[in-house]
Amino acid sequence: MTRWSDGIDLSHHGDADSAPGLVDLAVNVRHGAQPAWLAATLRDALGRLDRYPVAVAAREAVARRHGRDPNEVLLTSGAAEAFVLLARVLRPRRAVVLHPQFTEPEAALRAAGHPVERSVLDWPFRLTSPVTSAVIPKDADLVVIGNPTNPTSVLHPASDLVGLCRPGRILVVDEAFADCVPGEGESLAGRSDLSGVVVIRSLTKTWGLAGLRCGYLLAARELVEELSAAQPLWPLSTPALAAIEACSSPLAVATAEGYARELVEARSFLVAALTARTGLRVVPDPAGSFVLVDHGGDDAVRQRLRDAGFVVRRGDTFPGLGASWIRVAVRDPETSTRFLHAFDAARALAVSG
Ligand SMILES: Cc1ncc(COP(=O)(O)O)c(C=O)c1O
Repeated sequence: MTRWSDGIDLSHHGDADSAPGLVDLAVNVRHGAQPAWLAATLRDALGRLDRYPVAVAAREAVARRHGRDPNEVLLTSGAAEAFVLLARVLRPRRAVVLHPQFTEPEAALRAAGHPVERSVLDWPFRLTSPVTSAVIPKDADLVVIGNPTNPTSVLHPASDLVGLCRPGRILVVDEAFADCVPGEGESLAGRSDLSGVVVIRSLTKTWGLAGLRCGYLLAARELVEELSAAQPLWPLSTPALAAIEACSSPLAVATAEGYARELVEARSFLVAALTARTGLRVVPDPAGSFVLVDHGGDDAVRQRLRDAGFVVRRGDTFPGLGASWIRVAVRDPETSTRFLHAFDAARALAVSG
């Protein structure tokens, strides 16, 4: 289903632009081999497909990983299912989505029949510095924000997010990229004291499991019960549950921490190279596995990059951005270097042509 709003296709995602043979810098799923223990877990789960899935162990593992009660955990078929469940179960009077951000939360709210207001942050896309450009109405009873935010890669301090909490308001924090941040210092996943906060997590990105569909949300027990009642029977497969359990273990958390540290280095390389180029605006201090860049030109730059074999995420399907913005996935320095050469050539052609 295509969901357009204000001329923007909210259903457009990076995978639609990607194609075999092209270097994919549009989809932010980590490349590289899965750890042996995860591959073995998945193989083992395939041997149990004759039985219906049992979610107890995975739910308890997630609860332990975040220091929550298992009753505060809802396992979902990716973060995407969490957005749909929330949209179908909640009855917001005034729903506000902070943009630019991943468009599915807004699309799910609209598909469920809720009017949605956009609160759009201007450069540098932060809630507080230097002054916040986005106004969140005091009576908004549902506010959705990403942290770190896709596509800006901005990591909001936890204190800024807590500052958005109000009695009677549900604050949904999409933490699909939280495990890109070493130490996960700004995550609200462990905060059961904040009863109005819903944290959404995904296993898609760090573990390269986009095709398996596994994620979860953390929320107050009563809301988890309501959302759970809206799910079909057996919403997650046995392999997805096995992956969630395995990826919540202390070993997995330590492995993800290692990936996050490697990401910091690879991202510094890309950001330094982009920042050294004139005529570009690079969103400062990115915290995700991607970097948002304003090249100041039109969509021809992205098309030329594609002709040169590189797919980047277009900016014009994010409310608050436009065709001069591209989001670039962080890859190894060798791939980033090849991208940078192609980017220079694409920009030079745009100027001369
Ligand atoms: C910010 C953000 N949240 C959620 C999702 C969806 O994640 P999942 O694959 O777990 O449904 C994505 C996917 O691109 C995303 O970028």
